[in-house]
Amino acid sequence: MAVEIETTRKSLVFAVNGERFELSSVDPSTTVLEFLRSQTRFKSVKLGCGEGGCGACVVLLSKYDPVLDQVEDFTASSCLTLLCSVNGCSITTSEGLGNSKDGFHPIHQRFTGFHASQCGFCTPGMCVSLFGALVNAEKTNRPEPSPGFSKLTVSEAEKAISGNLCRCTGYRSIADACKSFAADADIEDLGLNSFWRNGDSKEVKINRLPFYNHNKEISTFPEFLKKEIRSSMLLDSKRFSWYNPVSVEELQSLLESIEADNGSLIKLVSGNTGMGYYKELDRYDRYIDIRYIPKLSSIRKDSAGIEIGATVTITKAIEALRKENKCEVHSKGEMVFKKIANHMEKIASGFVRNTASVGGNLVMAQRKHFPSDIATILLAVGSMVDIMNGPRREKIMLEEFLERPPLDSNSVLLNVKIPNWESIKNISCETNTMLLFETYRAAPRPLGNALPYLNAAFLAELSRCEAIYVDDIPSPANCLYGSFIYSTEPLALVKGIKFQPKPYPDGLAAVITYNDIPTGGENIGSKTIFGTEPLFAEELTECAGQRLAFVVADTQKHADMAIKFAVVDYDVENLEPPILSVEEAVKKSSLFEVPSFIYPKQVGDILEGMAEADQKIVSAEIKLGSQYYFYMETQTALAVPDEDNCMVVYSSSQVPEWTHIVIARCLGIPHHNVRVITRRVGGGFGGKSVKAMPVATACALAAHKLRRPVRIYLDRKTDMIMAGGRHPMKITYSVGFKSNGKITALQLEILIDAGLSADISPVMPHNVLGALKKYDWGALSFDIKVCKTNHSSKSAMRAPGEVQGSFIAEAVIEHVASVLSMEVDSVRSINLHTYNSLSLFYEGGADEPFEYTLPSIWDSLAMSSSLCHRTEMVKEFNRNNKWRKRGISRIPIVHEVMLRPTPGKVSILNDGSIVVEVGGIELGQGLWTKVKQMAAFALSSIKCDGAGDLLDKVRVIQSDTLSLIQGGFTAGSTTSESSCEAVRLCCDILVERLRPLRERLQEQMDSIQWEMLIDQAHLQAVNLSASSYFVPDLTSMRYLNYGAAVSEVEVNLLTGETTILQTDIIYDCGQSLNPAVDLGQIEGAFVQGIGFFMLEEYLTNSNGLVVVEGTWTYKIPTLDTIPKQFNVQVLNSGHHKNRVLSSKASGEPPLVLAASVHCATRAAIKEARKQLLSWSSQDGSTTTSTAFQLEVPATMPVVKELCGLESVERYLEWSMGTK
Ligand SMILES: Cc1cc2nc3c(=O)[nH]c(=O)nc-3n(C[C@H](O)[C@H](O)[C@H](O)COP(=O)(O)OP(=O)(O)OC[C@H]3O[C@@H](n4cnc5c(N)ncnc54)[C@H](O)[C@@H]3O)c2cc1C
Ligand code: FES
Ligand code: FES
Repeated sequence: MAVEIETTRKSLVFAVNGERFELSSVDPSTTVLEFLRSQTRFKSVKLGCGEGGCGACVVLLSKYDPVLDQVEDFTASSCLTLLCSVNGCSITTSEGLGNSKDGFHPIHQRFTGFHASQCGFCTPGMCVSLFGALVNAEKTNRPEPSPGFSKLTVSEAEKAISGNLCRCTGYRSIADACKSFAADADIEDLGLNSFWRNGDSKEVKINRLPFYNHNKEISTFPEFLKKEIRSSMLLDSKRFSWYNPVSVEELQSLLESIEADNGSLIKLVSGNTGMGYYKELDRYDRYIDIRYIPKLSSIRKDSAGIEIGATVTITKAIEALRKENKCEVHSKGEMVFKKIANHMEKIASGFVRNTASVGGNLVMAQRKHFPSDIATILLAVGSMVDIMNGPRREKIMLEEFLERPPLDSNSVLLNVKIPNWESIKNISCETNTMLLFETYRAAPRPLGNALPYLNAAFLAELSRCEAIYVDDIPSPANCLYGSFIYSTEPLALVKGIKFQPKPYPDGLAAVITYNDIPTGGENIGSKTIFGTEPLFAEELTECAGQRLAFVVADTQKHADMAIKFAVVDYDVENLEPPILSVEEAVKKSSLFEVPSFIYPKQVGDILEGMAEADQKIVSAEIKLGSQYYFYMETQTALAVPDEDNCMVVYSSSQVPEWTHIVIARCLGIPHHNVRVITRRVGGGFGGKSVKAMPVATACALAAHKLRRPVRIYLDRKTDMIMAGGRHPMKITYSVGFKSNGKITALQLEILIDAGLSADISPVMPHNVLGALKKYDWGALSFDIKVCKTNHSSKSAMRAPGEVQGSFIAEAVIEHVASVLSMEVDSVRSINLHTYNSLSLFYEGGADEPFEYTLPSIWDSLAMSSSLCHRTEMVKEFNRNNKWRKRGISRIPIVHEVMLRPTPGKVSILNDGSIVVEVGGIELGQGLWTKVKQMAAFALSSIKCDGAGDLLDKVRVIQSDTLSLIQGGFTAGSTTSESSCEAVRLCCDILVERLRPLRERLQEQMDSIQWEMLIDQAHLQAVNLSASSYFVPDLTSMRYLNYGAAVSEVEVNLLTGETTILQTDIIYDCGQSLNPAVDLGQIEGAFVQGIGFFMLEEYLTNSNGLVVVEGTWTYKIPTLDTIPKQFNVQVLNSGHHKNRVLSSKASGEPPLVLAASVHCATRAAIKEARKQLLSWSSQDGSTTTSTAFQLEVPATMPVVKELCGLESVERYLEWSMGTK
C-alpha cells in the first residue's frame, strides 16, 4: 500500500511487512526481535536462543539505495539486530510472505505439503531464510527457470537454511521443501509429500506443487519508505542516544566530545552480532553506529592487496574476495583469496554473516580473545590493520594488533589490508621457501554456526505458519514478568538473597520465595506418582540449579537482568559434603525406592549361563552422560488471576492435568479454582512434562500474591540449567559367550543418577531393561540402583532409559565381537531373539508370533541397503585410504510401549462442523492430524451424503483441564493412538445416537446430507456431544515395536570429524495411522539420537551446575550433520488385532536406532587403530587392535584421540623406516 506520509524527521522510521512504524523514542538496547514480539502483531518471529545460533528469529532486512534506486535484501537474526540500526529499512517476517487471510506463500504451502513442520516453532525462521535466498537468486542474470521454479540452485537452497535449527523434523523434509524451488532440482529425488500421488509423471508432479511465480515476487521495500528516504531520514541522536556519524572526522570529534563527558559509557556498533557471544550486561549511555562512514564500509583494491573496511560484512567480504579472483587469472594470489573466502563462508550462518562485520570480529578477537577464524586466517597471510585513536592513526601488522592490550573504547579499527600474493611471495623468497597457504577448520558442524575446535493422510495444516504458542498470547493489561534465581551450590544454607546496589535492577516488582506461599498452600513445584519436588528451596539448597526465588519485573528483559544482579549468600559450614557421584550415593545408601511392581524380572539362571560360556568378559565399565531437550520453545507460562480466587494458567506443558493439581496445592485452593490451558507446545521431548510444572506454578503463585497477570519465557541459559535432562548412568557388566559369538549370560550392575528428587526415575530400571532385552542373552541378571544425588533431578527425555539400555546391549555385543575377532554383525545376528526367547524375555508383551517382525526387517534391511556389498566397499575404501576410514553397522531395536487411559470428547455443532477435545497435547508429533482423521473416519460410518468428506469440518481444540479432565501425560509414544481410540469411542456413541434419525429420514428421502442430518438432530434434541474415557485392556496395553537401521560413516583421522554417509531404516508402524506423520517422527527421532550419540555434551562444573549455556556450546544436529543419504521405510505390517486401528508407535523407538551411527563410527575407529598399530610394529605387520570403549557422545576430540593423536608422526617414522 503506497501511502504519502509527511516525514517526521528525527524519529525512527521503518516498515514491517509493508506497514509503517514511527517511534519517537526507544531504549537503544532494544532488539528488532523484542520490538516485533512486544509491540506488533508479527509474532512469527521467535526467540529460540537470543544469540544468533538458531535462526528462529530470522527476518529479511531490506535497504534502499536512493542513488542507485536499488534494494538490497538480506536475512538477519533479529535477536541481535538493534532496532535503531534499522532506521529507514524494511523488515519482512513470515507473515509478510503470506497468511491465512491473504493466502499463503508457496514457501509455506510447500513446507506444509512436504511435512517440513512438526511443532512449527522453527518454521517461520526457516521460511524467511529460504525466502531471502529466493529473492536474491531472482536478482541474478541466470537463465529463466522452468515454470514453477526459481533461479535458486539446490546447493543455495540447502545453504540458505543451514544455520536454522530444528529439533523435530530431522531436516530431510525441510531440505526437500526448499529444494523443490531450485532450478536444478531433480524432482524425483524429493521425498514424501501431500501433493503427489503414486505413479504421477514428472510433469504432473511439477504441476501439483503449489505454483511459484518467480517473476511476481513480493515487494520487500514499500514505495512510501523509498520516498521518505529520498527526503532524508535522520534520527535525533540525543533523544535516542544513538549516533550515526558519516565521516571518520565526525566519528573522531564525537568520540572526543563523549570522552570529555566523564563517565559516559559508549558502544561502537556495527552488526551487534558480538552480543550473541558476550551477552554483555553493561548498560551503555550512547551507541555509535559506524556503518554509515564510507571509509569504513568500502572495499578497495590496489596492487598491494585488498583493503576491507572495518564495517564490511563477512558476506560482502566473501563476495569481494571472490570477485578479486576473477581478475587475476589462475594466479597464486587468486588461490589465497579464494581460500580465505571459502573459509569465511564457514563462519556462523548466512543470517549472521550478512550483518557481522570483519572489523567487529577482529576487535572481538583483540579485546576478548574470541576464538576468531578471521583473525587466524588473516594473520597467516600477513595482514595489516589501520587504527585510529583520537588524532593518532597507526598502520600495524595484525599480529601486533592482536598482541596489544585490549583496545580502549575510544579506539577505532578502520580497516584491514590483506596483501596480494606478490607481497607474500617476497616474504617467502627471503626465506627461500615455497608458498603454501592452507586454511583448516574442524568444527562439529561443517557448514559453520559452530566455533571450530581447531582454529494416509496427507493432511495439510497451513495454520502451522500462524501457530500461536503461549508466549505469543498478547500480554494482558498490567502484566508482570518473571525470572528464576537458582542456586549455584549443590548443598548449602541460603542465608539471604540481595541485589548488587549498583546498578539496581530496573522495574523490579517483587521477589517471590517459599515464604510467599499462602497459608493452606504447599511448597510444591511438581509431582509424579513417585513423589513431589518443592517449588523453591527453603533454608537449604540441595542442588545447583535449584529454584531459590522468582523475580518479578515490568518486562521480561528487566526480570532477566535482575537475576544477573542477584547475590545469594551461602553457608556451607557444618554441612556434610554433597553427593555428586553415583558411587558416593551407593556408599551413603542414598537411593530412591523402586516399587516392586515396576522393577524388571531377571531371566534364566545366571550361574548356569556363565557355566555354559567358553569365554568371559568380567567387570567391564561404561559411563553414559546426560542430554538436554533443546526444544526450540523454552519453558513458558502465563498466569491470569480470575474472579473468586481462581487462576487461569496458559502453560506449554505435556501434562496440564498434573500442572493443574500442583498449582492448586501450592496456592491452597480447590482444584476447581484452577484452569490450565495448553494449545500447543513448541517441542517437548519429555522436558515439558514434570519440568514445566514449577514454571507454571511460580507464575501462578506470583499472580496470586500480586493479583496481576504474570508470565515467563525462560532464557535459554536458565532453561538449560534447570532442565535436568536425561539420566546419566554407570554400567558394569560381565558377559559369558561361546566361541561362535552366542552369548549365554549377561550380568549387570547399573547405577542411575536420578538427581535430587524422584521425578519419574523409578521407572528407569524398567525402561533400561526393556530395551536391553532386545537380544537373547541366555540368562540375564542385574542389580539396578536409582541414586539420589545433589544434582538437579533428571526427568524423562524421549526414549528415557531405552536409549541407554539399547546402547548398553550394543556395547556388550561390540565387546564380545572384538574379543572373538568376529564381524560384529554376525554376533548381532546370532543373538537375535527367536519368538520363543522373545516371549521369555518380554513376558506378556510379545503378541502373536507373526507380529514379531524383527527377523524379516533384519533381512530386508540387509537387502535394501546392500549391506554385504557396501561392507566390501568399506573394506576396499579403508585399504586405499590412510587418513579417512569408513565403518558400517546394522542394529536392531525392540522397544516396549504402554497405552494409558485417555479421555476424549466430540461435539457436533449446528452447521455440521465438529469440535474434538483430547487429553493429549500437540507437541509436533502429529497428534491433531491423526485425531482429526480418526474423527472424520469414525463419523463417516453414519453413511450419509457428504459424510465421507468430513475432514475439513473437524477442529481439534486446545486442552483445557476444566473442560476435559483426566488428560494425563502426553508421553511414551502412545498418546496419539489412545487419543484416537478415545475419539473413536465418542464417535461411535454419536453414530449410534444419529442412526435412528438417519433411518427415519432415509424413509422419507433418497439423499440425506450430513448438514441436514445434523440440523434435524439438533431440532429433535439428539445429544450431539459425547465424552469417553479409553481404558486399555490390561492384557494388551503393553506391546513391542521393531525396527532396524544400517549406518555408514566416514571418519577423518586428522580432525576426528565424522560424516554420516548413509542411513537406511526400516521401522514397523503396524498399519500407520498417517505414514507422513510417522515418517517425520522416525526421521526426527533418529536425528535427535544422532545428537545424543555424536554431538551433545551437557556439561556441568564440579558443583553440578550446568555450564553449557546455549547454541555456542551445546550442539544439536543441523542440516549438515544428518546422513547425506537418508532412506526410511515405514513398514506396513498388516493387521494387529490388539492395536488401535492396527497402528504402532513411532515417536520414540527410532531415536534408539541412532546407535547405528555410533557403532559405525566405532568400526571406522577400529580400522584407524589397526592401521596405527601396523605402523607401530617394527616389521610393519598388522596386528588386531585391542578393544576400546567409544564414549557417548563420540565428539570430534574423542574420535580423534581414539584414532591416535600421534598417527602422523607414527606414519612418518614408519614410512621412513620402510624406505
Ligand atoms: C551465532 C554466531 C556464530 C559465530 N561463529 C563464528 C565463527 O565460527 N568464527 C568466527 O570467527 N566468528 C564467529 N562469530 C563471530 C562473528 O563473526 C562476530 O560476531 C562478528 O563478526 C562481529 O561483527 P559485528 O559487526 O556484529 O560486531 P559488533 O557486535 O557490532 O561489535 C563487536 C565488538 O567490537 C566493537 N567494534 C565493532 N567494530 C569496531 C571497530 N571498527 N573499531 C572498534 N571497535 C569495534 C564493538 O563495540 C563491540 O564491542 C559468530 C557470531 C555469531 C553470532
Ligand atoms: S533467537 Fe535469534 S538466532 Fe536464535
Ligand atoms: S518443527 Fe522445527 S523445531 Fe519443531
